[in-house]
Amino acid sequence: MTSRKSFGSDNHAAAHAAVLRMLASASDGDAVAYGDDPWTEQATTRLREMFGAQGGVFFVFTGTAANVLGISLMLRPHESVICTESAHLNVDECGAAERIVGCKLLTAPATDGKLTPELVAAQLSGRGDEHRVQPRVVAITQATELGTCYSLAELAALSRFCREQGLLVYMDGARLANAAAQLECPPAELAAHADVLSFGGTKNGAVGAEAVVVMNDALGSVAPFLRKQQMQLSSKMRFLAAQFLALLEDELWLRNARQANAMARRLAAGVSAIPGITVCQPVESNAVFALVDPGWVPRLQRDWHFYVWDEAGPVVRWMTAFDTTSSDVDEFVAGVREVAGLAVS
Ligand SMILES: Cc1ncc(COP(=O)(O)O)c(C=O)c1O
Repeated sequence: MTSRKSFGSDNHAAAHAAVLRMLASASDGDAVAYGDDPWTEQATTRLREMFGAQGGVFFVFTGTAANVLGISLMLRPHESVICTESAHLNVDECGAAERIVGCKLLTAPATDGKLTPELVAAQLSGRGDEHRVQPRVVAITQATELGTCYSLAELAALSRFCREQGLLVYMDGARLANAAAQLECPPAELAAHADVLSFGGTKNGAVGAEAVVVMNDALGSVAPFLRKQQMQLSSKMRFLAAQFLALLEDELWLRNARQANAMARRLAAGVSAIPGITVCQPVESNAVFALVDPGWVPRLQRDWHFYVWDEAGPVVRWMTAFDTTSSDVDEFVAGVREVAGLAVS
């Protein structure tokens, strides 16, 4: 615990007060278990409508579980997933897809975290060859692990290519709210380019709740069974659902994402003016990636929590959250200016 705001991750943020209030109000006597309760019914209905999800909405505990469940709905044993090298699915899930789904990941290099039809096409050789694993799912992340966003045009081009190629699209939406805020579009417009996606609550103010949104009707029927096998069927489902009800009320999810994104833009603007720092990815969600003078990193990390993303450079990642304030950012930028030997404005 530190009194200074962490720029390490949006997961470092506390839960939103409205989420905690909704959890308390859901804790009111008995309710039938495993999702047969009014909170789950209401949250599921609202999310189904919001996304236009024909195949259903399924709550799970973590983003990793959402990715595993989502992908498992789409694959047969000889089929594979195409994703970027930097995909959370590939780098930060301890091989969950490989072990739990049992699938191979085919990874494409993408310096901005985004797949293109060309990058996907390069992974398609060997289709029809019984010796080779068969690509079936293209997994993208929106917003990406590198803080970038696919534009609607990029999504349209990619999903059109996938459809033509008989590939299904999975969208890791751990930060879908941030992407919708950035693109100023309804989440349904993003979801229209996916067969299955996740809608993250945890990074947006929930305690821990994610939704797997199944757009494609044909894929939804097995989801309840696979969720149970994957140990994600919460007996006290009402508490996962209640968190989403709080985020959906008056579009709290969108206000939270807008605040986080605005604070990332403010941070990027502040540090861009400092010689010795180069913001090296477009700031299109709530992350700022920057090349920083190597000597500054340990000095800054004495006072602020953040991660070095790539030792080469080094490239650091500064993340904001729904509860990051302008003064948190200004204090941090002043700290960076001080380390850089500049007057603190
Ligand atoms: C893009 C992305 N997807 C999925 C996850 C997984 O979330 P969890 O840590 O809840 O499993 C994360 C977490 O940081 C993430 O950044």
